[in-house]
Amino acid sequence: MSQKKVSADGIKELLKISSKVSCYDKLNSTNILAKSKAAEGAAEGDIIVALSQTNGRGRMGRSFYSPKASGIYFSIVLRPKINAEDISLITPVAAVAVARAIEDITEKSPKIKWVNDIFLNDKKVCGILSEAVFGADGSAEYVILGIGINLVTPKSGYPEDIKNIAGSLFAEDESFDANLLVASTVNNFFELYGDLKSQSTLEQYQKRMMLVGQNINYTQNGTEKSGRVEGIDEHFRLIVKSDLGEIIHLQSGEVTIGSNNLK
Ligand code: BTN
Repeated sequence: MSQKKVSADGIKELLKISSKVSCYDKLNSTNILAKSKAAEGAAEGDIIVALSQTNGRGRMGRSFYSPKASGIYFSIVLRPKINAEDISLITPVAAVAVARAIEDITEKSPKIKWVNDIFLNDKKVCGILSEAVFGADGSAEYVILGIGINLVTPKSGYPEDIKNIAGSLFAEDESFDANLLVASTVNNFFELYGDLKSQSTLEQYQKRMMLVGQNINYTQNGTEKSGRVEGIDEHFRLIVKSDLGEIIHLQSGEVTIGSNNLK
């Protein structure tokens, strides 16, 4: 494998926006550091990158496995001037940005598993977690958009609990430039971020979507149900036709395919 060294300057010179980029060998979590920087006034577009995380955070209180020499983990400070209810659009739009970045710099065809996981060959290669901090008036003061990409499989493989789900973007003998992957993701994201409700972005999400037409399990009001995925609506909600024939628009949560829990 030949890899370019990841560095703040290496990323910065490829960015189309002007950002402060900080790069660390090891952090507890880029989201945690980005949050404290944002609280101290970090500007929109500032980026925190880590080569490993000891407390990588995932959705739904889970952790995100972030060993060194395996992935790239980064968080972007956002200060969106949008309605609080539109904040949830940031993550699916970021999923489109990651997928486009992978397509821009490789020959690969990533897929998006609702809401915002990126899959390659049926394995999760990227997770996205955005965390918003709201002011007293209910508007978002800032949002931290955190993205973790599994570049290569760790030497000792993925841990038991995720080994059937996690995959890597590159094979051991493939060369890649992680600076370019980060910069390209950020560039794509900022191209889409100005209009989170754009029809074109929705279509870009739809055309990369996994699960459409498949039978899935989902949870509604605490009850496990099953149905068939019909697509997504304009709010990136998953449209499911339940086994009872009811059409449901799922706002959040997680869906699984049969017994194969693609977390
Ligand atoms: C998920 O799949 O549940 C979301 C994972 C998000 C992981 C990224 S890695 C960079 C940023 N820092 C974190 O602590 N989490 C996000």
